[in-house]
Amino acid sequence: MDPLDVLFPDQIVASRQGKAIGHTLIYEREVSSTNEVAHSLARQGNPEGIVVLAERQTHGRGRLGRSWLSTPGKSLTFSVLLRPPIPPARAPQLTLVAAAALAAGLRTETGIPVRLKWPNDLRIGGRKTGGILTEMAATGRTIDHVVIGIGLNVNPDPAGFPEEIRHMATSLAEAAGCPLSRQKILGAVIDSLDHSYARWLSEGFEPVREIWESLSDMVGREVTVREHERVVRGVARGIDDEGFLLVEASDGTISRVVSGDVSLAGEASSSEAGTGAS
Ligand code: BTN
Repeated sequence: MDPLDVLFPDQIVASRQGKAIGHTLIYEREVSSTNEVAHSLARQGNPEGIVVLAERQTHGRGRLGRSWLSTPGKSLTFSVLLRPPIPPARAPQLTLVAAAALAAGLRTETGIPVRLKWPNDLRIGGRKTGGILTEMAATGRTIDHVVIGIGLNVNPDPAGFPEEIRHMATSLAEAAGCPLSRQKILGAVIDSLDHSYARWLSEGFEPVREIWESLSDMVGREVTVREHERVVRGVARGIDDEGFLLVEASDGTISRVVSGDVSLAGEASSSEAGTGAS
């Protein structure tokens, strides 16, 4: 294995004692889905902050029922178990908390201008380099736990991506022009996630909203959003104080989009892109 691809989970764990996220890291060669493993650890009563990382997923899942492919030794494929003391309605904000944290952490670590597409895509030059899948388990008005699943294309060769998504997916290494250290990137994104999660719990969504909008690839651009039966077309204006996408139609009316698949004018829907593309 290229030394840049080797992971030393113990070093990450050692540097994260006493922190909310990353005090425990489970590193597996192959699992069905790291999200699934994290849910199962949660059901067994484990505390928040555990990270489950795998080199290969046999049933890696993406948003909207899509699958997620990652490249062993080259991608970062992991999930974080959280138990936020919030009402279930606020849980979708965690996707945006994670997206903003990841983009900021990756920018600081690599200098690459990673940008965001609502709700869960990390992009470089309009091509997807990572995705986030947030899943919640709740009983009535109480959250039991939330799993944030993250897939990042660090060093895979884009020539190996499935042909149908090759034009819409990229890797951090492709953008950097050289392979990057998975260890450093994992450490940087866990650190950034930890910081952003703590800030969101103490200060609420507004600081996240500001960072998210400043890193967005969409604000001011023409978008088409497919949300169940509804199709919303217009200019993306940002996100509101709950994390919903705001789209202004040509007559000036603003629609608030809760979930859906977004296409930007002039682009194919890159959220379909699933090796680091789903
Ligand atoms: C998307 O862009 O559609 C979200 C992709 C999320 C993929 C990650 S990889 C780690 C975790 N485990 C999964 O099965 N999915 C998430």
